[in-house]
Amino acid sequence: MATSMVSLLAIVLLCNFALQPSRAQDFCVADLSSELTPSGYPCKAASSLTSDSFVFTGLEAAGNVSNNIGAAVTPAFSAQFPAVNGLGVSIARLDLAPNGVIPLHIHPAGNEILLVLKGIICAGFISSSNVVYSKTLNVGDVMVFPKGLLHYQINVGKYNAIAFASFSSPLPGLQIVPLSLFASNLPSFVIEKTTFLSDSEVKRLKAFLGGSG
Ligand SMILES: *[C@@H]1O[C@H](CO)[C@@H](O)[C@H](O)[C@H]1NC(C)=O
Repeated sequence: MATSMVSLLAIVLLCNFALQPSRAQDFCVADLSSELTPSGYPCKAASSLTSDSFVFTGLEAAGNVSNNIGAAVTPAFSAQFPAVNGLGVSIARLDLAPNGVIPLHIHPAGNEILLVLKGIICAGFISSSNVVYSKTLNVGDVMVFPKGLLHYQINVGKYNAIAFASFSSPLPGLQIVPLSLFASNLPSFVIEKTTFLSDSEVKRLKAFLGGSG
């Protein structure tokens, strides 16, 4: 009798266990010493975490905009801020010198929401049906950039501009199209065939952005 009660209890518990969704973890701070998997980094042991594990202070300083695009992106993605791993969010700081530009780029894995903190930024994106949505943003303005679409930010003001971009992924990814084309070793012939740009323009852009081939 006692044995069958135990068996019954075991069956009930097993069924109950099987029917319940697995209990979600509160968090999964990335263990950056482990390999990145398709679902993010493995978690660090909760016992190794402190309050500081959930705070990132790397966005207080301006990025260095002394470069050929006059702009800098300082990310707080999971590689820099392990606490966002598994949470579906991340953030980055954008600094733009006057005339600085974050060139046409995409985030393959995340929607973006941009908040302008300082300056005047002309921003826009291009839909997959080639419709352009562009706007001059002032301090306090917020604009969204849907996942995977080409977009840009240009400082059209007289002074440095600062914006913060939040993403719907801890690893939104960043591919800057002019750098992919003209700072890589993609052969000029291929670029000319696939973009319809002239040879002289491709050579000028490779010299400007540091490409070879
Ligand atoms: C900014 O970058 C430029 C070019 O790489 C470099 O010469 C300069 O020292 C950097 N400035 C700071 C403050 O790091």
